[in-house]
Amino acid sequence: MTARHPIVILGSGYTGEWLCRLARQQSLPILASSRRPDSRLSYVDPHARLRFDLAERATWSALPPDADLIWTFPATPLEQVQAFAMHYCSPPRRLMVLGSTSAYDTSGDQVGGLPPWINENGPVDTSLPRVQGEEYLRTHHRAIILRVAGIYGPQRNPVEWIRQGRVGPTDKFVNLLHVEDLAHLCLLALQAGQAGETYNVSDGHPRRWRDICAHVSGRWGIVSPRQEGNSESGKRILNQKAVAHFNYTFRHPNLYEALEAMQGASPRRG
Ligand SMILES: NC(=O)c1ccc[n+]([C@@H]2O[C@H](COP(=O)([O-])OP(=O)(O)OC[C@H]3O[C@@H](n4cnc5c(N)ncnc54)[C@H](OP(=O)(O)O)[C@@H]3O)[C@@H](O)[C@H]2O)c1
Repeated sequence: MTARHPIVILGSGYTGEWLCRLARQQSLPILASSRRPDSRLSYVDPHARLRFDLAERATWSALPPDADLIWTFPATPLEQVQAFAMHYCSPPRRLMVLGSTSAYDTSGDQVGGLPPWINENGPVDTSLPRVQGEEYLRTHHRAIILRVAGIYGPQRNPVEWIRQGRVGPTDKFVNLLHVEDLAHLCLLALQAGQAGETYNVSDGHPRRWRDICAHVSGRWGIVSPRQEGNSESGKRILNQKAVAHFNYTFRHPNLYEALEAMQGASPRRG
């Protein structure tokens, strides 16, 4: 992969750190931002650290004018997003924004007792502030939006979510994506995504929490303290547009194999 411009990762949380490491492996020119760069960006060379806070206008000019941007925090509030974008999100700069599959409004849609499959044409809930910010950036500044499923990986281990009772054995469907796959898809989308387009990113295998809990219980004897109960139906996210457009092969196509690897490497992190 070649990059004409440096890439700035706006916001260096969980995904941002994986993105930085992957970009470095691919020898891409990368800069990372944080609101507290000295304490949060120890894994980045000092010269590649930027202080950036969407809420603090004085920090915006730290971004190199020729850099492409990967925006990894919710694009809110709208007024700040608009003010920032007016000055810093114009072509030829490429802009990619991480959204969420929670944008999709599926209230009431059930087919044969199952939630519908949702592609990028599904209706979104425009009352959600982050959806307003993303749609503004997409329609006015040609941002590429990735609608991201639940992110898991080392230090975000669904086995620990079950152990802690954050989730339990309900019939709700969940769509997940390993953070390593997300990092690869982000870089591909920045390079090859069509400006102004939206792509769903998930591993393509929605599962019921009940089934994940049964697997975890059978394999490791870990049972959620949360009771069974009525739940929402969840969603089933289609990822075919991204997979086809980016010709992507998942590093972690199978949740259970990924859990096995994480449990072997780090038994009690979540
Ligand atoms: N976690 C999930 O399962 C999931 C699912 C679907 C979508 N998403 C979305 O995917 C994206 C990446 O998720 P993630 O879990 O990797 O996020 P994360 O760990 O929260 O990282 C985002 C980072 O952005 C920075 N940030 C936050 N607000 C900011 C602001 N106003 N100005 C500048 N920087 C700001 C923070 O870093 P500093 O404190 O260092 O500045 C934060 O750590 C997010 O938009 C998230 O909502 C997440």
